[in-house]
Order: sequence, then C-alpha cells, then structure tokens
Amino acid sequence: MSFWDNMTGFFWGEEHLPLLIMVVCIAVVLLHFRREERVSLVNTLAFFLACLFGQFVSGLLHALEFVRAAAVTHEVFVIGVGIAVIRLWGQLVFRVVLPAVRLKPPRITEDIFVIIAYIAWFMVRLRYAGLDLGSILATSAMITAVVAFAMQDTLGNILGGLALQLDNSVEVGDWIKVDDISGKVVDIRWRSTLVETRNWETVVFPNSQLMKSKFLVLGRRTDQPVQWRRWVWFNVGMDTVPNKVVSVVVDSVLHTEIANVAKSPAPNCVLMDMDDKGYARYALRYWLTDLAADDPTDGMMRWHIMAALQRAGIKLAQEARSIHITKENEKYDEVVHKREVLLRIKTLRRVELFSQLNDAELRGLAERLRYSPFAKGNVITKQGDERSHWLYVIINGEAEVYVDLSNGKRRTVRILGRGNFFGEMGLLTGAPRSASVVAKTDVECYRIDKDVMEEILRARPGIAEEISHILVTRRAELDIALQNLDATGQHKDLSQQRSEILAAIKRFFSLG
Ligand code: CMP
Repeated sequence: MSFWDNMTGFFWGEEHLPLLIMVVCIAVVLLHFRREERVSLVNTLAFFLACLFGQFVSGLLHALEFVRAAAVTHEVFVIGVGIAVIRLWGQLVFRVVLPAVRLKPPRITEDIFVIIAYIAWFMVRLRYAGLDLGSILATSAMITAVVAFAMQDTLGNILGGLALQLDNSVEVGDWIKVDDISGKVVDIRWRSTLVETRNWETVVFPNSQLMKSKFLVLGRRTDQPVQWRRWVWFNVGMDTVPNKVVSVVVDSVLHTEIANVAKSPAPNCVLMDMDDKGYARYALRYWLTDLAADDPTDGMMRWHIMAALQRAGIKLAQEARSIHITKENEKYDEVVHKREVLLRIKTLRRVELFSQLNDAELRGLAERLRYSPFAKGNVITKQGDERSHWLYVIINGEAEVYVDLSNGKRRTVRILGRGNFFGEMGLLTGAPRSASVVAKTDVECYRIDKDVMEEILRARPGIAEEISHILVTRRAELDIALQNLDATGQHKDLSQQRSEILAAIKRFFSLG
C-alpha cells in the first residue's frame, strides 16, 4: 500500500463526504437566517475544519507508523468534529427551525441541550475507544461532589439563571429596578444578567442576587402594554381653587399629542398634599410608553403644566422668602413692568391689524394683553368652539390653521408665524371658531379679550373695516380648503361680503 493510500485510508471514511455536505448546508441556512451571528458561525466552521485537519495529521502519523499517536490524535479530533456538528445543529434547531414554528425557547435551553449532547457524544466515543464508563463515573462522582462544593456560588448563579429564564420573571428587553439601579435587561447569561442603565452604564447582576432579593419589573402588567406611571410634582398657592388647577392642567395635556405619553390610561392630576409653607402640592400622573425617555418626557409635561397655568393666570407657588425679597424692591418691579410694556408695544407695531393705533392707544392695549404660552402640540383653538371670544397675536413660534373635513381627514389652511393674529372671526362676530389652530412649535402669544377689543373698535372704527377685508380673504381660503364650492360666499361679490361681515361685527359689539 502506498504512503498516500495508507494515510487517506486511515482518516478519510465514507461518512466524511456526506458530513461535509451537511455542514455546508447548515452553514448556508444559518448564514441566510442569522446573518448577525456570522462571527460565531465562522468560529464554529473554523473549529470544524481544524478538527478535519487534525484527522488528516493523524493519517500522516499513521502512515509514518506512529500507530498509537495516530489513534489518540484521530480520536481527539473525531470528538472535536462531533462537537462542531452538535453546535451547528443546536443553532439550526434553536435559532432557525423553532422560531420558524413560532417557538422561542430561552437561550439557556439551547445551551443545556447542546451541553447534554456534548457529554453524550463524549461518553459514546470513550466507550467506543474501550474505556470503562462505570469506573469513570464512580471517580467522577467524587470529583463532582468536590467541585460542586467549591463552586457553590457559581452553581447558585447558574441555577438562578436557569430559573429566571424558565419562569419568565425577566425577559431581555424588560426594564428592571434593583435597589436604586434601574435599566433595560440586554442579556441573561448563565451566571449573570446584564442591565444597561440610562446613564450608559452596564450593570452585571449575579443571577443568584436576582433570585434571592426582590426587584421591580417596570411598566409590566398582565395583558397590558408596557407603560410606566410617572409623577410630575408642582406647587400652587392655596388661594387658587384646586378644581381649577386640576382642570386647567388636565385639559391642556389631554388634548395634545405628546410623544411617549399613553392615551390610555389618560393622564390625571391630583391634589396630593397641603404644605405648611402655604401652598398646595399637586401631581400630574401620566403613563410613559418608552421607558428610556423618562426625564425628557417629564420635562415636557412640566412645560405643559407651566404653560397651562400661565395662560390661566395661575402662578406656581414661590417660597415665601423670595416673595419678601422681591416685594421690598418695588422700583425693580416697576422697571420690569415698563420693559415688558415696551416690548409688547414693539411687537404690536408689527401687527397689521393695529397699524392705525397711535402710541397712547398701543400702550393702553399693551397694558391689557394677557401673555399666553403654548407648548408644541397644544390645540389653541378648536373648530366649532362657541365659548372662546378672544384673539391671539403670535410673538414667537409657528401655529398651523387646519380644518376637519367631513370625511374625517384634516386639511392645513395656513401656517401663521410671528406678528400674525388668529381667532378674530370668533372674537369679532361671535361665530363659532371656523378652524382649529395648533401649536406647530412652542408658541408665545398675547391674548386680547372682547372688552379690550371693544374699546379699540370704539376708538378706531376704521379697524373694523380693515378686519373685514382680512376676514373676507381668510374665509375664501377656508372655503377652498373645505371645498365648499357652492358656499354662499362664492356667489356674492367681495364688497357685499365685506359689508355683511362689517354689519356682523357692529352688531356683536353694539357699535352704532
Ligand atoms: P376663528 O374662527 O375665531 O378661529 C379659527 C381661526 O383660524 C380664525 O378665527 C382665523 O383667525 C384663523 N383662520 C381661518 N382661516 C384662515 C386663513 N385662511 N388664514 C389665516 N388664518 C385663518
């Protein structure tokens, strides 16, 4: 027999070709379905090829007549090939086949099955090699007892990991809180559970700790979506009726789309305490849907509270100490007030509606404006609302005017910005709001109420005429948006529309 035949005859059996084809097929399937795990696949394949090469070396040894060494080398690498194949099958079954039939066993199950298969394969090969399993088991029982004693903690962790995985008390993706650490579970390993905190730390919890002590799974409730109740605290003086505070705040957040705030359960506001410092303590509670965004969403809710209270003329409580300090300095107050009035006059000058007013009239108006901030997303006026008779002048930000169509859709009519005004149709004619206006960004406005407007119109009747021009144009745009092609306005000429609107204004304000 030639050297070559001797060598290949020793290590290359008839099972090798089907084995190679099987490994290639499994590798192709895994690469296709589990691309993200290709590094682990490549490692396994490299191990498989290395073991095949080891068998080739054993063939060489055999041909060189190192018979004993060849036999041992061959056995070692046969075990190696078996291990690689078991691993590949494990991945195929647990990561491709079972998920395909909608079974998602925890990762640890795969590990357990694979390890049992490794041990079984090892035993089979030992037996095949003629070793007595009985005596090995007897000695190994002793060794196991010693090792188990030495590895109590590690075993505790491993069993903890198993229990955690199997009873589903925590899953990857859950947010948990242990003592004062909270974060998202990113991996449950044999010995430990990895939790990523919002501060970009990764905390490693030994599994036995999670099993022994209590921990919170945030936002999880049976048969409910994952959402977590948050508390946003604020204080208001006792001189304001709690009902008013609650309704102002709740109305504002209920009608606004706020990112990461659940619609159900809806946010609510509660009077929680009465402080001995003289103020009432409230909490706005809402359900957070993205648990990673706790602080930003709390911040957004605080801004909504601030803006809503400011619009309603309700002040957040200040500590008594700072009130005294400020009161002492009345001159300072006056300076602040003057500066604010000047700023308002400057803003009002840019508003075309008030271009006819002289300085004294502008000052009078500036004194009586109400500062009204809105948070992004707030609905400032609601189409069809009959109760609100005031208009807004925008000093900062952008607002979108839109109409709800009969088919349930909405259509944007116009985007208004700094210096623009809206709400004049309701204010001047008493009609229900013709459109909705929503804050596209955070918006700061001045609000002008009916009594203030009445004074202006009495002093400057010309303004009513100017407004009627603007109103006619805006109405026409609205009609186009609503596709009101047979609206009455289309058949009348512009001057007729204007005089009708003017008459409506005069009627509403009882002007002569
Ligand atoms: P009012 O009807 O009181 O409330 C909705 C407001 O949207 C309305 O007053 C106008 O101020 C504003 N609005 C309606 N149509 C237009 C338009 N075409 N251009 C600008 N603003 C408009």
